[in-house]
This record gives sequence, structure tokens and C-alpha cells, in this order.
Amino acid sequence: MHLFTSTVGRKVLMAVTGLLLVGFITVHLLGNLSVFAGSEAINIYAEKLHSLGPIVWIFRLVMLALFAIHITFGIKLTVENSAATPEQYAIQVSQKTTFAAKSMIYTGLIILVFLLYHLLHFTLHVVHTGAVATLEPLVNGRLNVFAMVGNSFTSAFVSIVYVIAMIAVAFHVTHGIQSFVQTLGWNNGTSQDKVTAVGKLAAVAYGVLYVAIPLAFLFHIVKV
Ligand code: HEM
Repeated sequence: MHLFTSTVGRKVLMAVTGLLLVGFITVHLLGNLSVFAGSEAINIYAEKLHSLGPIVWIFRLVMLALFAIHITFGIKLTVENSAATPEQYAIQVSQKTTFAAKSMIYTGLIILVFLLYHLLHFTLHVVHTGAVATLEPLVNGRLNVFAMVGNSFTSAFVSIVYVIAMIAVAFHVTHGIQSFVQTLGWNNGTSQDKVTAVGKLAAVAYGVLYVAIPLAFLFHIVKV
């Protein structure tokens, strides 16, 4: 099996990169939830991350490679699948394809556009510069990431963009989890229904917890 050229190889690449990306969004979610523990918590968390120096850049390169592989082969598989199945309607009905499965390419593209916007916002600081400027003055010698995030989400526009993107993440993860469990052969003895249920439960948890962050600031439940 050639990893990059055979269909099975590409599916394995999608599964492994997808699994690692789920790992990333889990750690990223836990870090971001620290906004609920008061302003200092996320500022300390961000300072610790930035203090890792070269490790941060290695991590960024790995992330870039994971996203690039996942997106490239995701698009390729979608194009190939649609070319190979002209009678898509009949096939989808017979396989009881879910909405999450059918919309993988669309939720994936929404996440891609979100990611570019998100990096321009919180990493490169080139959009929503008013809110980004509140990174300074430093608080206890640290950049005020809490103020940057909080002031960004008090804008209804920014919050709605994030809520839409986080719903796309939740749908993508629902089918993604089922898919990589199946591709990597981890469902030995476990019924498909159980795997589906775990995928759904995890996706609801990601959706609710991620959406809670912008909404908490928008509705002033957490105050900047
Ligand atoms: C409510 C949702 C989210 C919030 C509040 C949030 C917050 C942040 C913040 C504050 C940063 C900058 C970290 C720093 O440099 O100090 C960041 C970076 C980043 N976020 Fe998010 N994020 C969210 C959702 C997501 C999602 C769903 C993804 C992936 C699909 C994602 C991917 C990234 C990536 C790749 C970076 C760049 C990391 C780096 O600079 O090395 N984020 N996020």
C-alpha cells in the first residue's frame, strides 16, 4: 500500500491526521476554557506557551503539515468519490449516510476559512485590531490575552462567526471520530451504534464548550 497514492493509504493519512487534529482541538479547548477561571489563568497559560521558544515553532510546523495533509487528501477523496459514484442518491440512501457524513467537505471548508480568519485575528493580530490592542498594557508582566479574547467576543459579529465555525467543528468531529475508528480498525467487537453514539457525544461536548466561550463574553456572563 502506498500511503500517498492508494485510496486506502490516503484514508489512513486522513484518519491519523484527523485523530491528531482532534487531539489538538481538545488541548486547545482545555486551554481556552481557562477564561472561566479568571483573567490571570489564560494569561499565564499563554505566557507558558510562548516561553517554550523553538518548541512552539516545531509545534506550528507539525500543525501546518497535519492541516495541509488532511485538507489536501480530504478534497482529493471527495472529488474521487463523487466521480466514482454517479448514482450518489441511491448509494447514500442505502448506506443511511448521516448529515454530518454528507457535509464533511462543507464543514471542513468552513473550518479552513475560519482557521485563516482565526490566525489573522489571535495569532497575527491583523484583524479586529481594536480588541487586539488590549493585549497591552501588560498585567502582572504578562500580555493580557484575556482582554484581547474578551473584547473580541463582545462584538456580536465576531461571536456569531465563532459560533458558526464551532458548530461546523462539532459536525465535522461527529463523523470524523466514527471515520477514524473504522479506518484504523479500532472498532473490534464494538458495535457501530456505540461508536456513532460516542462520536455524537464527543461532538456535542466540543460544540457546547467551544460555543460557551464567545457567548459568555457576548452576554457579559464573563466580564472583561
Ligand atoms: C472559542 C474558540 C476558540 C478560541 C477562544 C481560541 C483562542 C485562541 C487564541 C487566544 C490563540 C492565540 C494563542 C496565542 O498565541 O497566545 C489561538 C491560536 C490558535 N488556534 Fe484557536 N481558539 C478557538 C478555536 C479554535 C479552533 C476550533 C481551532 C482549530 C480548528 C483553533 C486553532 C488554532 C490554531 C492553529 C492557533 C495557532 C496556534 C499558534 O499560534 O501556534 N482554534 N486560538
